[in-house]
Amino acid sequence: MSEEKFERFCNLLNLPRETRVLDIACGKGEALVRLAEKYDISGVGVDLSPFCINDCRKKHQERAPETDLKFIELDGAKYQPASGELFDVAMCVGASWIFEDHAGTLRALKRMTRPGGLVIVGEPFWLKEPDAEYLETSKMTHDSFRLHAKNVLQGEEMGLSCLYTLVSNKDDWDHYETLQWWAVDNYIQLHPEDLDNQELLEKTKNEKEIYLKWGRDTLNWGIYIFRNP
Ligand SMILES: C[S@@+](CC[C@H](N)C(=O)[O-])C[C@H]1O[C@@H](n2cnc3c(N)ncnc32)[C@H](O)[C@@H]1O
Repeated sequence: MSEEKFERFCNLLNLPRETRVLDIACGKGEALVRLAEKYDISGVGVDLSPFCINDCRKKHQERAPETDLKFIELDGAKYQPASGELFDVAMCVGASWIFEDHAGTLRALKRMTRPGGLVIVGEPFWLKEPDAEYLETSKMTHDSFRLHAKNVLQGEEMGLSCLYTLVSNKDDWDHYETLQWWAVDNYIQLHPEDLDNQELLEKTKNEKEIYLKWGRDTLNWGIYIFRNP
């Protein structure tokens, strides 16, 4: 997702005062910190990675220290809100495996969201039928993802109402994928002595080939905003 789309997404949410936001797999906390800078919210971010949680806490202190954000290092599947607490907004962007799949994620977030609140999920989708060789090489199955319409439908089938979808375009995908190539190169230029460099280069070469041969034309990415009835 481009910076411009992320900004549009944050503006669209237009969160009222004292909104409580939950972000499962919050990564480096950009979404929560950005929302806290923009709106009078409080929030909880959960991520399995101690490195991400450290970055979240640092970012929180640097950019919005006066706001009530908590970051918890934990498997998202094990997170339990304080007894009876329901969030106004619950999201999980790009980590649906935590709750098994897209439907499982929607179900889990719905349970933690108050009636009338928002459930937000970021999930890839097939642009077209995936090539068998693509699935095999990238260790995916046909069921790893589904079509864009199905990502919406699975939410609607459980009573959520889809309000908005934010879909990436080729430029967004290229930016996301190729920045990783650049980051690897950058790292190796700065750390030529690192013994992991060869492995890193081989991994990147493999992923580059998979993306260029199949991924770029087969897979896309969307963020889905649902209203919990
Ligand atoms: C693709 S990133 C998405 C991060 C963030 N939501 C974003 O959009 O920038 C996936 C994140 O999921 C976290 N993660 C992976 N497995 C997890 C789990 N079982 N519980 C919580 N977080 C997990 C990773 O540490 C990583 O930060």
